[in-house]
Amino acid sequence: MASVQQLVESAKQLVLGKGDFAYVNEDKGSDAAGKGTQQEPFQTLLKAMETFGPDAAIKVCKSGESDYQDASASALKKIKKKYEENQRKAKRLEEQRAKAEQEGQAKVEAEAQRIEEAKKVVLTQDASLPEATKIKIRDSVANRNKRVKVSGWVQNLRVQGKDMMFIDLRDGTGYLQCILTGKLCHTFDALTLTIESTVTLYGVISELPAGKTAPDNHELVADYWEVIHKAPGDKEAFGNKLNAEADPSVLLDQRHLVIRSKKQSAVLRVRAQLMKSFRDHFDSRGYTEVTPPCMVQTQVEGGSTLFTLDYYGEPAYLTQSSQLYLETCLPALGDVWCMAESYRAERSHTRRHLSEYTHLEAEMAFLDFNDLLDKIEDLICDTIDRVLAHEPTRRLVEELNPGFKAPSRPFKRMHYSEAIEYLKEHNIAKEDGTFYEFGEDIPEAPERAMTDQIGVPILLTHFPAEIKAFYMKRSKEDPRLTESVDVLMPNVGEIVGGSMRISDYDELMAAYKREELDPTPYYWYIDQRKYGSSEHAGYGLGVERLLAWLCNRYTVRECSLYPRFTGRCQP
Ligand code: 4AD
Repeated sequence: MASVQQLVESAKQLVLGKGDFAYVNEDKGSDAAGKGTQQEPFQTLLKAMETFGPDAAIKVCKSGESDYQDASASALKKIKKKYEENQRKAKRLEEQRAKAEQEGQAKVEAEAQRIEEAKKVVLTQDASLPEATKIKIRDSVANRNKRVKVSGWVQNLRVQGKDMMFIDLRDGTGYLQCILTGKLCHTFDALTLTIESTVTLYGVISELPAGKTAPDNHELVADYWEVIHKAPGDKEAFGNKLNAEADPSVLLDQRHLVIRSKKQSAVLRVRAQLMKSFRDHFDSRGYTEVTPPCMVQTQVEGGSTLFTLDYYGEPAYLTQSSQLYLETCLPALGDVWCMAESYRAERSHTRRHLSEYTHLEAEMAFLDFNDLLDKIEDLICDTIDRVLAHEPTRRLVEELNPGFKAPSRPFKRMHYSEAIEYLKEHNIAKEDGTFYEFGEDIPEAPERAMTDQIGVPILLTHFPAEIKAFYMKRSKEDPRLTESVDVLMPNVGEIVGGSMRISDYDELMAAYKREELDPTPYYWYIDQRKYGSSEHAGYGLGVERLLAWLCNRYTVRECSLYPRFTGRCQP
């Protein structure tokens, strides 16, 4: 079918000189490349007519013949009909296009006119109204039915005709539907308002009539409003920067804007309440909070994940764990805890590894391995209970993770050797089809497969010494094993790692030797075993991992304010 362009073009015709012919060769001609001459003929009569007009004299060399003849009258009649039909179509289309252009132009002019008119509309506050009280959205229920003033960001905007618009306002303490009517919708600011602009609205918050819904079941009916700052529209508009199809790297580049979304800000809010609940938990159990250093000269969890730095010309690292420092605090402060950033130069791109993560760690003295397991269980259950006891956070968890139920005690306890058996019995194998054997580290994928199948939190204990850190105490029953524990959660995997610590001086020195670690920079840690040693134990919990489990997030990257991982150190 001919395009509009082709049809319109065909309406522009050339004129043949007197006695000249247009040439058509059905075998050798070309409508696309031909010129209608004997040397460069067209292929069809229609093309010849379109080029030289309906009355042009045309010579045709029919298919299979070698001579040119005058085009027959019957052939010309048939093609002329088709030609005239095309001409009419072209005319119609051209008229339609011109009309649309005219209407478009008229619309643009009308809009420009409307904007110009809008610039003349000036709002003033009605002096007869009572003075507005400045409130935050969280206090809006308590301030219904009196005149208030609320500032915030335009989360969403709906325009209904010329005389009504709805603004979903967000101020960090909540969401409020605001309705603007009449003159309030006629100003330049109203016509050009954009999402994420900042505004102040004045008016009265009233309960919604039955059948309508909005946050807190009420809306602010504005009597006056002003724009504080207008966010860009068009190409730069907020919605264009973060559309639903944006791939994860775009969303990570724009994380500073992404965190404004309802979902992402909800995760960060739950995170804040989780951190408060940890603090309340430790406070209620009599622990002292300490703040160990981030810049260190000792490793805790193996050399392969250390971030090194130049510390005034000396080698130093970003801490992998505050554990060793917490241990030194026991004789000074008793049971201690901290929540600090830990750093791991992890090469792996997994959904649960960050290069910088928030590490909750605790250390306790005078206890045995079973006490340690009970304390870990207590930390998780009591903290989650506290989070859910905070009603606004409980609602956010319910939105993010519908049907979430706090875990119940006791957790399933399982030895590492039982896990190795479980993997075999349930046909969870390595990529090459062989099974994991005693002594091997169980990597993330099979560990998750097992945890997801079991479907409840697991305290996995008694790992072989070879696959665990140098400081872990051996099991009295089987010295090949350590008194160590990982907590495994469905959908996430390991969220806690802990152990009894070596309390004997000679045993610790032997561990350094075995691991080929120079004990010199650890002198302060070793002194712990000289000056009043004790049985002691501790653990570290990955806050982003617990949050991913609690909020049902696919990756820990969504649980960190600005995640750091291989290849990403901004924003
Ligand atoms: O098992 P890990 O390596 O144990 C320690 O660091 C001990 N020194 C802690 C202690 O006993 N005080 O790490 C503890 C927890 C893990 O279970 C995991 O939840 C989290 O820290 N974690 C990470 N989270 C995010 N990204 C990473 N790269 C992580 N590495 C460990």
